[in-house]
Amino acid sequence: MYRFIYSDNFQNYLNFIGIVFVKTYIYNNAMNIINRIITISLLLSVVSFKVFASPPPAYEGRGLYTSYCQLCHGVGGKGDGPLAKAMKTKPADLTTTVRSRSDTILLKIITGSGRQTITGRDRHNVVSDAMPEWKDIFSDSQLRALIAYLRFLGNSKHSLMGDPNVGAELYQKYCRVCHGSEGDGDGVMTKLMGIMPMDHTNPNATNPLSNTELVNNILNGKGRFMPAWEGVLTKSDVEALVSYIRLLSH
Ligand code: HEC
Ligand code: HEC
Repeated sequence: MYRFIYSDNFQNYLNFIGIVFVKTYIYNNAMNIINRIITISLLLSVVSFKVFASPPPAYEGRGLYTSYCQLCHGVGGKGDGPLAKAMKTKPADLTTTVRSRSDTILLKIITGSGRQTITGRDRHNVVSDAMPEWKDIFSDSQLRALIAYLRFLGNSKHSLMGDPNVGAELYQKYCRVCHGSEGDGDGVMTKLMGIMPMDHTNPNATNPLSNTELVNNILNGKGRFMPAWEGVLTKSDVEALVSYIRLLSH
């Protein structure tokens, strides 16, 4: 929107000097150029709206988890949420239990549809009804997103060191041109320059690197085309970016 404000101001400015040159040739030409700029920036803003048409699953899942599950299962999934103390059946430690579950079983456990319930602790794919049923709360794609985040909690060797929401925004602002809006390395610059950035959605590429290594490589740059972001981004910006990248590869 600021572009409109800018152009309004500019028009006011032109109107002002226009006291002398009202509706001159220069003015009309300038308006042509401004209209063109507005058209181009509108086109660009349409492109940037599409950025989160489908958010990365584990990233979306983390948002849902924070709102609906964290209360019992805790920030890190260990079953130590603020409500846990008050519960007779303790919330499961998702960082250990989820690993042995298939997606189908997790879907049943979360939605409660087809879930077998017993009183007391879970054995052989059954959980007690101390775990709420979320049947009508989530869409299919939200359920897939939640499961992707549970897999992240269960499998990732790397913790989230910063705020992925901040990271997501910075990523779209600074990294998308090369790494692509979805992080798979097909940004517009790669086609122009013929470079191959790291595919951030590939766990085989990101997992071998520790959080510290990723932070340092982002701050200092790498190879010819991965820019050094020191001075542009703060260390906590970069930590937020690394957290977002961790979620991209799950
Ligand atoms: C009111 C507290 C509460 C909330 C909120 C809650 N859970 Fe649970 N959850 C539990 C309890 C208690 C258990 C353990 C049940 C048992 O051991 O029989 C459990 C178990 C589970 C299990 C089974 C773990 C396993 O493999 O044995 C999964 C998966 C799970 N919860 C996912 C979720 C998700 C996803 C959400 C959010 C959408 C969520 N839970 C929200 C209380 C909660
Ligand atoms: C001008 C294009 C360009 C931009 C913009 C860019 N990158 Fe890169 N990035 C690359 C290229 C090319 C590589 C591969 C470098 C290599 O391995 O030689 C890379 C590699 C990486 C790696 C892997 C480093 C490693 O340890 O192997 C990370 C992490 C990364 N980029 C993060 C980012 C982040 C975060 C941003 C935004 C703040 C960003 N990049 C912006 C081009 C870019």
